Amino acid sequence: MPHLLITGGAGFIGSHVVRLFVQRYPNYTIINLDALTYAGNLENLRDIENAPNYVFEKGDITDAAFLDSLFAKYPFEGVIHLAAESHVDRSITNPLAFVETNVMGTVNLLHAARKSWGNQLEGKRFYHVSTDEVYGSLGEEGFFTEETPYDPRSPYSASKASSDHFVRAWFHTYHLPVVLSNCSNNYGPYHFPEKLIPLMISNIKEGKSLPVYGDGKYTRDWLWVKDHAEAIDTIFHKGRIGETYNIGGNNEWKNIDLVEKICDIMDELLGKPQGTSRTLITFVKDRPGHDRRYAIDASKLRDELGWEPTVKSEEGFRATAQWYLDNESWLEQVRSGAYQQYYAAQYGQ
Ligand code: NAD
Ligand code: TYD
Repeated sequence: MPHLLITGGAGFIGSHVVRLFVQRYPNYTIINLDALTYAGNLENLRDIENAPNYVFEKGDITDAAFLDSLFAKYPFEGVIHLAAESHVDRSITNPLAFVETNVMGTVNLLHAARKSWGNQLEGKRFYHVSTDEVYGSLGEEGFFTEETPYDPRSPYSASKASSDHFVRAWFHTYHLPVVLSNCSNNYGPYHFPEKLIPLMISNIKEGKSLPVYGDGKYTRDWLWVKDHAEAIDTIFHKGRIGETYNIGGNNEWKNIDLVEKICDIMDELLGKPQGTSRTLITFVKDRPGHDRRYAIDASKLRDELGWEPTVKSEEGFRATAQWYLDNESWLEQVRSGAYQQYYAAQYGQ
């Protein structure tokens, strides 16, 4: 039975990846390594926690000795690395945590894999999951391709860019069989409510104001999270060693248009007159160094490996809003005291 290490599997995207692999590949043993930070929640995996091919290991990727013991405990053939600090606003207030986890944690993992695998690299694979934010900020035109020069501008994107460079260094220097992907903004179930879409949904539910940064005309390309998990499966199994694949939803929205869309969907689902939730929109102070626009050219992944997004935004946004309405207890549970403190510091309320 091949053993596969997935890091960050208790987080938003990681939980969808773990679920997909556990259910689709009963012949694999999936080991989910997660430190269970504020963003990691085993509730996200309740439905598969007793699956015979699933194991949870609590641990921190900044702990090199722990990683060595984990590689000694299991004969890993593959790693899918998602563990990270992932929220740009937190990276602005606490950049060092991002350097520790995203940079040092990734280097520790590369080092542990290399030490464990030695020259036995046949059939091994180290997959690093990254973000389109490493490419910087676009103007009104153009798309990020795999050739776009790196130009990270936030502590979060700089830490992810750095981790990408280390992964490529381990490929070139030590021939570690790596593959990378850089994806656009994800949305869907289990998204921590500090990120734009779940924050807006939960604030609408509670009649709280909807904080839109700056002029609201910042643009993101939104991808249904399960489409990302499918892309990760495709790239893990079929991607060429040493290559990078961009993943995107072909689904650009200006923040203000997206927030208005979410308002309208929520009004409909809550049986309120159209326009009710839009009155909650409040323009607030901009994020420092706010990237204007991200947009992905995912044609390499489509042409080479045949992956394409399947869920249209109307369907995906509605399904997401409905999921948050149906899973109130999940929302309550992830909003610990620590999250309340973060919210008060970030939004001053
Ligand atoms: P998330 O914040 O929801 O989850 C991160 C997970 O990593 C959590 O379960 C957390 O407990 C765990 N973790 C954090 N620090 C750790 C440590 N030191 N050791 C072990 N585990 C640790 O993040 P996400 O949105 O699911 O993102 C997952 C990955 O995908 C990240 O690498 C992120 O950069 C990348 N990504 C995210 C998006 C997006 O839109 N969310 C888009 C592109 C790429
Ligand atoms: P976010 O979900 O934090 O993702 P990222 O910064 O990684 O793209 O933010 C998405 C966009 O929404 C980004 O342009 C910042 C903006 N935003 C707001 O306008 N208000 C908010 O309260 C948040 C969290 C984000």
